[in-house]
Amino acid sequence: MQYFGGKTKVSNQIVNYLESVRKENQVYIEPFVGGGIICSKMSGKRKAFDYNEYLIEMYKAVQSGYELPNSVSEDEYKYIKEHKDEDKALTGFVGFGCSFAGKWFGGYARDKRKKCDFACSSKLALLKKMSTMMDVDFQCANYKELHFSDCLIYCDPPYCDTTQAYGTGNFDTKEFWDVIRIWSENNDVYISEYTAPDDFECVLEIPTKIDIRNKDNKMEKRIEKLFRYKGK
Ligand SMILES: C[S@@+](CC[C@H](N)C(=O)[O-])C[C@H]1O[C@@H](n2cnc3c(N)ncnc32)[C@H](O)[C@@H]1O
Repeated sequence: MQYFGGKTKVSNQIVNYLESVRKENQVYIEPFVGGGIICSKMSGKRKAFDYNEYLIEMYKAVQSGYELPNSVSEDEYKYIKEHKDEDKALTGFVGFGCSFAGKWFGGYARDKRKKCDFACSSKLALLKKMSTMMDVDFQCANYKELHFSDCLIYCDPPYCDTTQAYGTGNFDTKEFWDVIRIWSENNDVYISEYTAPDDFECVLEIPTKIDIRNKDNKMEKRIEKLFRYKGK
């Protein structure tokens, strides 16, 4: 299932790094699980959170044997968008899995190759990921309300100006870094971001294939980074 801002392309590098720093039997926490690609590749005890309640209902429903549709028509898509609470799990699947670029109800997505309905390819991709996430504890929560101790925490928060992509409202990045400073007192916390405040250090850099133009209109390679808190 395509998910806006998903970490599919860099997932192996991130997972290898996280597993390499993980302590024995350390619980893995993902407060912004989104499409779940990192969580699906981590081992051991895992807890995953997200503020989009429909997404979490979808994961829990699939764990309980819920049958996702093989096709979703444009009319069904519009109906579900207008009646989100009728079947929250289905809304979670359609809202991301049947939407353009994996953006929350970002427009009805069509499969150009026509081999299979878009919903069908999304369902297959989701079920593949779920095959390794049947034992994950999924919960809907605002990350600010969460408290952990002795855990390995991986954060992939919304980047600036992308909150409309998830249906979760405004995201205060400054407040986010403050929460991370607190969590870092009792946990090992790693954050995916392009930049971080000065009291954070970059521990992993992954050049990606996406070339972007900088403000001087010159091509730049986009570099995915992983940060951690250095301390005071
Ligand atoms: C960049 S995406 C995560 C992508 C994920 N790593 C993947 O590979 O698919 C950010 C996620 O944060 C969630 N989110 C936004 N605000 C949140 C909040 N206050 N608390 C918890 N989750 C939140 C969004 O719903 C979205 O799923």
